[in-house]
Amino acid sequence: MTTELVIVRPDDWHLHLRDKDFLPITVNESARSFARAIIMPNLVPPITKLVDVKNYKQRILSALKPDLSFDPLMTLYLTEETDPKEVKDGFVSGQISAVKLYPAGATTNSQSGVRNFEKIKPILEIMAEIKCPLCIHGEVTDNNIDIFDREKAFIDNVLTKIRNDNPALKVIMEHITTKDAVDYVLSENENLAATVTTHHLSINRNDLLAGGIKPHFYCLPVVKREPHRLALVEAVVSGSPKFFLGTDSAPHLDQDKESFCGCAGCFTAVNTLEILAHIFEEQKALDKLELFTSINGAKFYGKNINSDKIRIVKKDKPTSFPEKLSTPRGEITVFKPNFETKWQVLV
Ligand code: DOR
Ligand code: ZN
Repeated sequence: MTTELVIVRPDDWHLHLRDKDFLPITVNESARSFARAIIMPNLVPPITKLVDVKNYKQRILSALKPDLSFDPLMTLYLTEETDPKEVKDGFVSGQISAVKLYPAGATTNSQSGVRNFEKIKPILEIMAEIKCPLCIHGEVTDNNIDIFDREKAFIDNVLTKIRNDNPALKVIMEHITTKDAVDYVLSENENLAATVTTHHLSINRNDLLAGGIKPHFYCLPVVKREPHRLALVEAVVSGSPKFFLGTDSAPHLDQDKESFCGCAGCFTAVNTLEILAHIFEEQKALDKLELFTSINGAKFYGKNINSDKIRIVKKDKPTSFPEKLSTPRGEITVFKPNFETKWQVLV
């Protein structure tokens, strides 16, 4: 039985660090085990300009403890007014690693996102030309479409067209939640990949809703039926280069999640690798964990593979994690799956 893993230090290809009071916690939690992360730009106001990128990156690095290292890979928030030159300059100079597309209204702070996809055509053409990856929140926002069907509707009605118009555009379908998305990603060429989160691999909609609503399991896209979770697990343990870890760790204050209109997001940065090791072991696929956490994403983004390693060990007893972390503005509950893990990252 394997009780110790030594793997290339992982990267997180989709992460919310938030800002200000949150940064000393979020940045250092991720930096404990991740070398790099794609940083989401959905702040208030959103990161829509290179000057915002520069200042936000500076705030992130200022929060990093001196004994840790962490490379925040910055993104621009795409709006219908985004200047293509801003994208080109940002990507070519290395200030951004990707552009993020939120359909307006799809999720937290997405109001400035895209309503009319025709308007962003010139930007997508330039991005295809310079090979700048496009990270997509893949859900339609039409109220006539059931929330559980919004990912598939986005593939059918929006993404297929975007990709047909720009076959050379590198697209990451983020935080996929359905077998439909797995099948679509697998059926398309090497310019399409997907990130998968820890929470979508470990809970289904019964965990969210049966026996009482669990606000800390509420995220977007919302978790689906068990067969969809199983399809995601199968995809990531297959070792296919098209799937890699993007935790979408998205902390909100408890008072904002446990409210009459609770925010979407699971705070998984604290225990992601331990949960993943448990899932991969259950699937007898521990040898594929490194591909998912540390190799596939770097290759898709055209980045080097990290040179250092981390150790994850299996103990006799379940690993304990803090229930909550404190910020000056209140507490944040750590994501807890409904199973125990004996794995622990050694830092
Ligand atoms: O659950 C989520 N939380 N999904 C998202 O797409 C956004 C994120 C957030 O920023 O809170
Ligand atoms: Zn996200």
